[in-house]
This record gives sequence, structure tokens and C-alpha cells, in this order.
Amino acid sequence: MELSIDAKPVQSLYESEGLPAFALPDALSRQYGPLGFENRCIYANFVASLDGVTAIADELQSSHLLAGHSDGDRFVLGLLRACADAVLIGSNTLRDSPSTQWTASHAYPPFAAAYAELRRLRGSTPEPELAVLSGSGRIDTAHPGLREHAVVLTSDGGAARLEGSLPAAAEICTLGPGPQLDVVRAVAALRSRGHHLILCEGGPTLFGQLVAAGLVDELFLTVSPLLAGRGVHERLSLVEGRELLPGRGVRGRLLSLHTQGSHLFLRYALADEVGAR
Ligand SMILES: NC(=O)c1ccc[n+]([C@@H]2O[C@H](COP(=O)([O-])OP(=O)(O)OC[C@H]3O[C@@H](n4cnc5c(N)ncnc54)[C@H](OP(=O)(O)O)[C@@H]3O)[C@@H](O)[C@H]2O)c1
Repeated sequence: MELSIDAKPVQSLYESEGLPAFALPDALSRQYGPLGFENRCIYANFVASLDGVTAIADELQSSHLLAGHSDGDRFVLGLLRACADAVLIGSNTLRDSPSTQWTASHAYPPFAAAYAELRRLRGSTPEPELAVLSGSGRIDTAHPGLREHAVVLTSDGGAARLEGSLPAAAEICTLGPGPQLDVVRAVAALRSRGHHLILCEGGPTLFGQLVAAGLVDELFLTVSPLLAGRGVHERLSLVEGRELLPGRGVRGRLLSLHTQGSHLFLRYALADEVGAR
């Protein structure tokens, strides 16, 4: 199907050789170039300001503000969701985005048909499953993100709290006593649901734990050409709750670089840095 989409392509400036490449619909390859993943991959997507801010406390959906309402950022987010079997988020991210649905079509509606075509070609469900990690189980059970194909990964106590209150399309998956849960078990639970490609959309607390556990294979980072600053209000960086240096560094290897205007779209493979001091 030929799509007439009036969106400026993101320009590819660098692409590492030998990356996996899915058979993308023309509309997506024209807009981005090639993209694919190994059979099993956990990849994260974030947007950060030039000064490294990813979230502004008390500002709902601050990532939109930090992205400078960039079409390119929304397009890439939609493309990454379109490739995913599941989108994993922490409960604060659910709370801070009260009207969000973590679907490809919701990320960037002008490409909804192309994202859907990619999923059809890959034999995927129409949209990825949303997985919300919440040890406490204190989440808004009426959140629109939970209305379709969702799972809440929670503790025994959280499961008791949520019992009978989730929409029919959302399931509870219990991971033990909690409230702090093992992220390795959370990922194993998603694997046992048949999810090979897992997109982590944060926030930085969840991402920090996944990185510290060595679970994240790739990071897609949009660098937005804005300075956010710091003052009295809490602002988060990319990794919260875990110190990686000194001692245990994690190093990125650049896989690709795209631009649109003054926004940069970076793709890194992540691996432990041996002997980081
Ligand atoms: N810039 C971006 O691209 C981007 C992307 C995503 C999010 N964000 C922003 O980031 C902010 C939220 O990030 P955040 O770091 O505060 O929170 P978060 O990672 O979204 O969620 C943290 C919550 O997840 C649950 N959780 C995480 N790890 C757990 C574990 N091991 N066991 C049990 N529960 C666990 C806990 O929920 P319970 O307290 O319910 O137990 C915890 O309070 C929001 O402002 C959001 O908009 C920005």
C-alpha cells in the first residue's frame, strides 16, 4: 500500500555494518532506513535534553516537553514499539502519563498504517503487550494503557490489592513477596509469555536496575537540543538508583546515528566495561 505521508525523513548519518534488518514496509524504510533486531533483545528508548534531563517531577508527560515536541522522536518511538512484543514500564511512568497508550499507533498516528503493516509482516499481535512493574500494586486501574493487552508484574501483596479491579484485558503476574522484586524474574516472566523483543520505556529507576543487572542489550537515545537546567524541582537523569562508576561501568558501542533538524537519534549496544575504575 502506498502511503502519502508529509513527514520529513530522519536522516541516517551512520550505520554499523552487519546489523539485523527486518523487511520494513516502504513507508518506514523511506523514513528511517534499515532497522532490525536479533531474535531476543531488550532495548530501551529515552529522550534526554542536552544537559541530560529525562524527567521533570510534577510535570505530566515531561518527556514530550523535553523532546521539544519533535515529530522525529515520536516517529522513532512508534517504530520501536512496532518492532516490540512487549513494552515494559515502571509504575511512576504509568502515573505520569495518564492518557498514554504504549502502542505504535498512539506514538505517531501518521504512520499507524505502516507500523501495523510491519507487525502483520512479522506475524506479531496488532500492538505490543504493555507490562507495568509495580511492587506495591498501587496503580490507577482505570488507566487507558491497561484497557488492552496488558500485564501488571507485581508482588503477592500487590496482586491481592489489584485482584478484581483490573480491566478484562489486563492480567496480574505475581513475582514473589516484594515489594522490591527481582528484575531478572520480571524479564523471565515476560519471556515465558512469549515475548522475545522487549522495549523498556523506563523510567530511569527501572532502567537503572535493568542495566545494573546486565539485561539491556541496546539503548535508543534521542538527544533533544534543549537545556532543561536544575534548581529546586527534582529532575531525573537517564540512570537513577544505581551507581555504575566507579567499579562497574557500562559502555555503549554506537550502532547508528540519525538526525532530524537539530535532534540526534543514537542507537548503542550496551555491555559491561571490564575493569572500569
Ligand atoms: N525521557 C524519557 O524518555 C522518559 C521515559 C520514561 C519515563 N520518563 C519519566 O520518568 C519518570 C518516572 O521515572 P521513575 O524513575 O521515577 O520511575 P519508574 O522507573 O517509571 O517507576 C518506578 C516504580 O516502578 C516500580 N518498580 C521499579 N522497579 C521495581 C522493582 N525492582 N520491584 C518492584 N517495583 C519496581 C515501583 O513501583 P511501586 O512504587 O508501585 O512499587 C517504582 O516506584 C516520569 O516522569 C516519566 O515521565 C521519561
